[in-house]
Amino acid sequence: MTVKTMQTAEVKDLLEKVAGFNKEGGNERVKTIVHRVMHDVFQTIEDLDITPDEFWQAVYYVNALGQNGEAALLAPGLGMDKYLDIRMDAEDAQAGLAGGTPRTIEGPLYVAGAPKSEGFARMDDGTDETAETMILTGLVTDENGQPLANAVVDIWHANTKGAYSYFDQSQSEYNLRRRIVTDENGRYTARSIIPAGYGCPPEGCTQQLLNELGRHGNRPAHIHFFVSKPEYKHLTTQINLAGDEYTYDDFAFATREELVVDAVRVEDAAKAELFGLNGPFTQVEFNIQLVATDKSALQARHERKRALEGETA
Ligand SMILES: [Fe+2]
Repeated sequence: MTVKTMQTAEVKDLLEKVAGFNKEGGNERVKTIVHRVMHDVFQTIEDLDITPDEFWQAVYYVNALGQNGEAALLAPGLGMDKYLDIRMDAEDAQAGLAGGTPRTIEGPLYVAGAPKSEGFARMDDGTDETAETMILTGLVTDENGQPLANAVVDIWHANTKGAYSYFDQSQSEYNLRRRIVTDENGRYTARSIIPAGYGCPPEGCTQQLLNELGRHGNRPAHIHFFVSKPEYKHLTTQINLAGDEYTYDDFAFATREELVVDAVRVEDAAKAELFGLNGPFTQVEFNIQLVATDKSALQARHERKRALEGETA
């Protein structure tokens, strides 16, 4: 059955009333967005001949998604975070602010207020004895390659099970989360453990939808970064470790060629000693280039709900 009702006065009138166009008050921006979104939902129902059964399945799915707390996980899975990045890249290009280390998505698992230290931090709590020790180093510079001291490199990553502290209550507070202020040479060094890739909760709503799409819900082993310094554009990015099965097949679409880094196994005892280690380790190097800007709005990360943000300094 194919019926067309979208162009009728009745439906147009309904959409205007839904969006509150015939009422004083409210928020004009919200009205405009709701009108457009509901129009597009109605149009989808018409074009694809969505049945009431399908419609109600979707409603119950949204309910369950909220109960799971997975809306911010489904979003990257559906490419929305990536799309926002594409738009911000295009805006930067238009404003002459392209260049520097590329951005990529934040993901939903940042926790504000991680311990802060100068130059170096140990990120793991030492409890995972099976983990491979990682030395993560890098130089933060401006676009001309000049080292930037006092940049804040805020790093977070998963453990060997792909789980993040705070969200995984079995881990110690702020495990694998640190803020490192670059030293006078613009360098940061972290001792941590090589993370495993992340997988969506298998019974969760995100994976349920991905299954319907014939897609997996895996991310490669990766490390998240916020990098900031006054007068420079805030950078939200991640590195993906090369060689992971999912490096180029990330369900969250965060991989960018410039952000794939090698994890190099180091057996040399003398090199290990340089980092205070007495055995082999894996070294990951990630140099970061920030772009200068006088636009203060671009110097801070954009607002969204983050764990403990506003509660910690
Ligand atoms: Fe992540």
